[in-house]
Amino acid sequence: MLIDTFGRRAVDLRVSLTDHCNLRCTYCMPEQGLAWLPKPSLLTDAEIVRLVGVAVGSLGVREVRFTGGEPLLRPGLVGIVEACAGLAPRPELSLTTNGVGLARTAEALAGAGLDRVNVSLDTVDRETFRTLTRRDRLPEVVAGLAAAGAAGLGPVKVNAVLMRGVNDHQAAELLGWCLERGYELRFIEQMPLDAQHGWERAGMVTAGEILERLGERFTLVPEPEGRRGAAPAERWLVQGFEGVDGGPARVGVIASVTRPFCRACDRTRLTADGQVRDCLFATTETDLRTALREGASDGVLAELWRKAMWGKKAGGGIDAPGFAQPDRPMSAIGG
Ligand SMILES: C[S@@+](CC[C@H](N)C(=O)[O-])C[C@H]1O[C@@H](n2cnc3c(N)ncnc32)[C@H](O)[C@@H]1O
Repeated sequence: MLIDTFGRRAVDLRVSLTDHCNLRCTYCMPEQGLAWLPKPSLLTDAEIVRLVGVAVGSLGVREVRFTGGEPLLRPGLVGIVEACAGLAPRPELSLTTNGVGLARTAEALAGAGLDRVNVSLDTVDRETFRTLTRRDRLPEVVAGLAAAGAAGLGPVKVNAVLMRGVNDHQAAELLGWCLERGYELRFIEQMPLDAQHGWERAGMVTAGEILERLGERFTLVPEPEGRRGAAPAERWLVQGFEGVDGGPARVGVIASVTRPFCRACDRTRLTADGQVRDCLFATTETDLRTALREGASDGVLAELWRKAMWGKKAGGGIDAPGFAQPDRPMSAIGG
């Protein structure tokens, strides 16, 4: 088991498959000049499957989410999913993607055993999308979402980040768009994880403001306590709208900064270059890649992973005096 000194148990593994991305979202990556991880340091497909196997077989991990960078850019993605679906006990498998290219691969991914996708989409206005991502690729994302739904990779969830003066005024429009299509939307507060270190707390759109914006057009009722569990999103029922499961439609807000959910955190992370991180905001990592390449047994790898998680801090510490943004940006950690 992966437990820490606060009694939390990590059962949800985020695996970054690459630090490359085909978008350049302003809150995540600079337009250019970001150094990539050196190629030889990247785990091979077989090494990823081996480590996921250790997590699932020996450490109690039940859910595996592939991310990045952009995981659809990983050539071996379908094979990795297929191999992970064959592990015992079989983990739940999901993918966080920007959706570009998903229209081409959704069916193959579903066939390989992928259960669900989360697609990141911050606006449905093409010009705003181009400004935010520095790429004109909104139609591909929209097609990717539809393909994911058609391939049975549901419930399809959409993740959105709001930027003041850019897309914050479009929050209700995005919710309406998602509700019409049966996608569950979750807003995520912008976190200090951008490569260019441009995050400022004062400029961030808070969960409170997001709810205010949505309230101008929708009636939101807090979901009864207890439904949240370890899920980071606080959810609201959207009155008058039906969700995909026939129940009420929902919208979520992940208040990572103003109401962090660290006490219930059940996550562990593996970077594309084989480092275990116990938190997005961790400043230290545990190197599994070197041990793996030096011939460590599954037992030794599991022990290293356990030790890596045992010392997990109580929280990400954004509000602590002296908070230092981690050296790795979100794109190289795996969001
Ligand atoms: C880093 S991306 C990786 C996976 C994939 N490329 C995608 O777009 O979903 C994962 C999520 O992190 C979010 N993200 C990136 N930088 C962020 C930041 N500074 N604060 C909050 N969320 C961020 C993205 O919007 C996306 O939803």
